[in-house]
Amino acid sequence: MKAVGRGPVVTVDGPAGAGKSTVARKMAERLGFLYLDSGAMYRALALKALQHGIDLRDESQLADLLKSTTIDLIGNGQGQPSVWLDGEDVTTLLRTPEVNASVSLVAGFPLVREEMVRRQRAMAREGRVVMDGRDIGTYVLPDADLKFYLTASLEARARRRLNDLVALGFHPNLETLGEEIRHRDTLDAAREVGPLRQAEDAILIDTTDMEVDRVVDMMLEYYRQRV
Ligand code: C5P
Repeated sequence: MKAVGRGPVVTVDGPAGAGKSTVARKMAERLGFLYLDSGAMYRALALKALQHGIDLRDESQLADLLKSTTIDLIGNGQGQPSVWLDGEDVTTLLRTPEVNASVSLVAGFPLVREEMVRRQRAMAREGRVVMDGRDIGTYVLPDADLKFYLTASLEARARRRLNDLVALGFHPNLETLGEEIRHRDTLDAAREVGPLRQAEDAILIDTTDMEVDRVVDMMLEYYRQRV
């Protein structure tokens, strides 16, 4: 049931590399909704902490840093939205191996999550959004109208990340990437606040052998039936 006075809200959660951001963005495009990539917000904070030489194990320093940080997710409804950190476009800096290796540490702290969740809820307040992440359906937007949980085999997920990184000019090793993803999933699922978990009312889709457009079509079909 939709909360009175707001547009529909769709959530897409799942482990790293399950295809969430691609399908969530395409679904938002097809619905004419805003796509909100919550992971990009944690990545932007991790990037800023790395740039400022902040100790990534220091929760209060990270929380203070976040308070004086603006993160804007800017999309025109077509293609990859851009991410602005303190007024600067950092979109291309968010998926480097350094940020990948630090982001789950930064995202594990309750004080950081509290502030991020507050911002994410504010962004979704008016509805007509598709938000992807780890804890969106379970914690950030538990009253969402439609929830998905996307997963895929570790190998498929590592391959997708490999392709993403090659496109950015990196040359990672598939096995190392698989290990990095497994490690990040373990940290994301084990944390006490906002762990990676399928919401009870989320629709599970295994994307291992599915083309992106088929996943999007399937999600839109659920949307038509249920929202
Ligand atoms: O989705 P993406 O892989 O870009 O997310 C990067 C990291 O940000 C995740 O591995 C996780 O540690 C963190 N994250 C989170 N909660 C979210 C979205 C992302 O903790 N809602």
